[in-house]
Amino acid sequence: MSKKLIHGLFDDDDILMNGVKAVRQKGYEIDEIYTPFPVHGLDKAMGLKPTRIAYASFVYGAFGLGFAIWLTWFMMIEDWPQNIGGKPSFTWLENMPAFTPILFELTIFMAAHLMVLTYFFRNKLFPGKKGGSPDLRTTDDKFLMEFIYEGDSSELESLLKETGAVEVNVKEIKDTKGNQLWFKIPTASLVLLFALSSCSSSDEPQRDPNSVFMPDMYYSIAYEPYSEDPNGINNMEARTPVEGTIKRGYVPYGVPDSNEGYQFALDSLKSPLVSDEKSEKVGEDLYNIYCISCHGINGDGQGKLVQNEKYLGVPSYAVSRLPNITEGSIFHVITYGKNMMGSHASQLTSQERWKVSKHVLKLRSQLK
Ligand code: HEC
Repeated sequence: MSKKLIHGLFDDDDILMNGVKAVRQKGYEIDEIYTPFPVHGLDKAMGLKPTRIAYASFVYGAFGLGFAIWLTWFMMIEDWPQNIGGKPSFTWLENMPAFTPILFELTIFMAAHLMVLTYFFRNKLFPGKKGGSPDLRTTDDKFLMEFIYEGDSSELESLLKETGAVEVNVKEIKDTKGNQLWFKIPTASLVLLFALSSCSSSDEPQRDPNSVFMPDMYYSIAYEPYSEDPNGINNMEARTPVEGTIKRGYVPYGVPDSNEGYQFALDSLKSPLVSDEKSEKVGEDLYNIYCISCHGINGDGQGKLVQNEKYLGVPSYAVSRLPNITEGSIFHVITYGKNMMGSHASQLTSQERWKVSKHVLKLRSQLK
């Protein structure tokens, strides 16, 4: 026997609700209900299952977190360890606090975006999709209950009429299985496109600009250091410091960045510090943060960046490789850098550079 499409049309949501309950009590399965607005409680009355998207969300979040862990590990630990803000960079765990924002963001990002895609996909929504309502009056003031029914439907028809349907239509339907596959692949790509396009700014007109919430707090009436001031020197609020001013703790280094300067540092520069166990430890720690990515933990020139072939030509500190370097020349090189090696003067204070130099000498004495 062929299937029938049965439409019961209602013109009031209360009557519809009662109808739904009555119909379901008799054991009929409602296939779909079309309404002009969301009717509260209709989902429960119809017996719709609750969504399982929360499980999907958890899986997507876990995937995002896993991806973030892999990404931070590969980029910052394995492939190209970078020294950012003087944080050690040898193990993922030690750096984990610094990666927290990335871990958090990627978790949320994946959970949110993949959930939206899942939602669209599951609901077969895509841009340009035609509305599915079989009767356009459901977009105005009518409610439509749809059944796909096999067999004698006269009982259902009269039941619908009894519960207050203003119209009952019955239509024979042909098999509609064919229209499933053609739409899946284009839908998937369209959904993807749609999701991506939601990232860009839209052409929609801007809303009216709002007003400033607390102007007194945003725009301070105090003087801004770099604002214009006709009465100030330089026409600027901020004054340049007195000539010769240096910042606290800064020790000027008068030796020039030249071959002569290098030679001078090599020959005659000596550490002003008295070395003890504590300062040696500081030197070692700083070396392990700032230098080992290139020079290696024991100074053999085989740091991670060298092994990964990001930097080449990093020498071993061994006497056989660098016969002439001294405390002074090492300090000079850390201060100014040399060829491929950059200056570390902005990261290490003068005292710290002397301590690191000491550690380099120690490593050198242990190398063959
Ligand atoms: C980005 C990689 C890199 C980092 C980080 C780095 N170096 Fe170097 N270093 C080099 C390279 C490359 C050379 C070889 C320079 C040349 O002679 O062309 C070098 C050379 C040296 C030399 C020999 C200089 C000479 O007189 O020939 C010393 C000493 C040295 N580095 C110490 C350090 C110390 C101490 C640190 C940490 C504060 C450090 N380096 C950090 C890449 C690096």
